[in-house]
Amino acid sequence: MKLAGIWPDESALGEFAAALARAVTSPLAIALSGPLGAGKTSFARALLRALGHSGPVRSPTYTLVEQYPLETGLVWHLDLYRLGSAEEADWLGLHDFDSNGDWLLVEWPQRAQGHLPAVDLKLELDYAEPGRRYQLTALSGRGTAALKALAPR
Ligand SMILES: Nc1ncnc2c1ncn2[C@@H]1O[C@H](COP(=O)(O)OP(=O)(O)O)[C@@H](O)[C@H]1O
Ligand SMILES: [Mg+2]
Repeated sequence: MKLAGIWPDESALGEFAAALARAVTSPLAIALSGPLGAGKTSFARALLRALGHSGPVRSPTYTLVEQYPLETGLVWHLDLYRLGSAEEADWLGLHDFDSNGDWLLVEWPQRAQGHLPAVDLKLELDYAEPGRRYQLTALSGRGTAALKALAPR
């Protein structure tokens, strides 16, 4: 199952992230892809806010991983743009990732192919100036359930 469309501005992206947060009943692993500036971090930030995080959300460009312990579960936010090799992902602590209780939001997942937990959703972003085009694909039963709950809008 797939959902696709255009977010004309960042607030449309924020509303979509909030709707997704409302639609899910259990934590999801989401791959975020698209060129630099496409909105991957913006989406992660909007989703974290919608999940109840109120502090700042830094881009994990240099740290590669940031964690946010929220009521709905621990959120792992990864940006693998600067990962030297896929094998380096084994040093990010993901052996502690709980696929039933934790969220995973990963930018540049292709840099760690074969070294990441399975994802439920793939969000592909691209420029559609002045907005952004998105395509959200379900890759698991949980992902499909989330898209079905989101679909009528
Ligand atoms: N739907 C949108 N329409 C227009 N601009 C957007 C939209 N979503 C995000 N932006 C802007 O695009 C930029 C995206 O940056 P960022 O989220 O850091 O991208 P990435 O993490 O993909 O490199 C930000 O300046 C943000 O304000
Ligand atoms: Mg980013």
